[in-house]
Amino acid sequence: MEWIVEDLGAVERWTIDGEARRNSLSMAMVGELNDHLRRVEERRALRCVVLTGKGDKAFCAGADLKERARMSDDDVHAFHVALRQALRGIESAPQVFVAALNGAALGGGLELALACDLRIVAPGAELGLPEVGLGIIPGGGGTQRLPRAIGVARAKDLILTGRRVGAAEALALGLVSRVSAPDKLREDALALAEQVARNAPVSLRQAKRAVDGGLSLPIEEALDLEHRMYQDCVGTKDRVEALRAFAEKRKPDFTGE
Ligand code: COA
Repeated sequence: MEWIVEDLGAVERWTIDGEARRNSLSMAMVGELNDHLRRVEERRALRCVVLTGKGDKAFCAGADLKERARMSDDDVHAFHVALRQALRGIESAPQVFVAALNGAALGGGLELALACDLRIVAPGAELGLPEVGLGIIPGGGGTQRLPRAIGVARAKDLILTGRRVGAAEALALGLVSRVSAPDKLREDALALAEQVARNAPVSLRQAKRAVDGGLSLPIEEALDLEHRMYQDCVGTKDRVEALRAFAEKRKPDFTGE
């Protein structure tokens, strides 16, 4: 098993179990990630998934370069197809994905984090896309998701130098939205996930779709998309429950319907 999966109720934590190879992306690990994404596709009770890596050295050191050295060109192609499917799967999942960056997030590791909705980083971690120094370019969406996340100038600064940034610079760049307290990443990431998970599931799914889908659209079409996503929430039982809970001065009990 390449992933350790913990069921924490409305939240699951998925931990890459490959500390000796710095949690790098093997074919088996990406295949299993796709299996887990299929498993939770219809699990409405699951609101949020925390992705992290074992140990404190690396979240994920990118492609497993030792496995890669043994792979044929066809194998590399198959790996990329599976990786792209997994990253799109995270983006289109109904759950909110939180990347808890416990250590280095490099190459495909940072691309995995970029497919997540939220990123929180441990103070000692380093992040980067070093591919141009390895004779390739980021191939897991990095050239597309990074500029959408932090802007073209900052993205090119990282991609074309291949340099690594620490937690403080990652926060300043907008590459992550939070830095955890020292030695508190696990708790801080879980608290963030639980805060997200308390909200209405349909709202979370539609808000994620509106933000991600609207980014690549002209403003009028993006606002139309938002409107459609909003309308989908209006007919839900959870919206009625929220109004009732407000009147009754209690917390809402959301079911995802
Ligand atoms: N694929 C396969 N094995 C990897 C790996 C990767 N991407 N990154 C690290 N490892 C392995 C090392 O080969 C080493 O194995 P060994 O004990 O058999 O020699 C082990 O993990 C520990 O690596 P080390 O560099 O000593 O660990 P560290 O904790 O000092 O540093 C990193 C961790 C992630 C910062 C560092 O390993 C690194 O920079 N890795 C390369 C990242 C990279 O360029 N990825 C490719 C992006 S396209």
